[in-house]
Amino acid sequence: MKTRWLVSAALATGFAVAGTYSSAQSASAAAASASAEPSKAAGFTADDITAGSVQYNRSCAQCHGRNMVNSGSTSYDLRRFPVDQVDRFMLSVTKGKGSMPSFDNALTPEQIKMLWAYVGSRGGKEL
Ligand code: HEC
Repeated sequence: MKTRWLVSAALATGFAVAGTYSSAQSASAAAASASAEPSKAAGFTADDITAGSVQYNRSCAQCHGRNMVNSGSTSYDLRRFPVDQVDRFMLSVTKGKGSMPSFDNALTPEQIKMLWAYVGSRGGKEL
């Protein structure tokens, strides 16, 4: 998934660098279509994933386990979270779910996006 996104990003960059008006147009069309799919919309970069992992260890690891390795508690195993359900992730993190608190006031939308980069890429393993 990440690979496909990267490829289209690389192509888009290539077109943009080529510099003609029509190439630039197709580059932005490519970028627009790339963001149409939820899993690509996040556009994970290695930096996002690293930032997400730092934030995860601060805010989430105490319940969901270091590196998302659930220690057998009742907390959801985030390694199994469906990577195509970004909206569900955002909703659960901002509103809370069951005994998980809401993080709406504790985290900025940007921080939550980084967390999704981390969880949605399986900690960077699935790019
Ligand atoms: C106080 C413990 C606790 C903390 C801290 C916590 N969680 Fe959870 N989380 C839970 C529990 C318990 C569940 C299972 C909730 C349920 O389904 O009833 C859960 C479920 C989830 C789910 C799945 C929800 C769904 O849609 O089924 C996601 C995603 C999630 N947590 C992400 C996070 C992230 C990201 C953080 C850090 C910002 C975090 N959690 C911090 C306890 C916690």
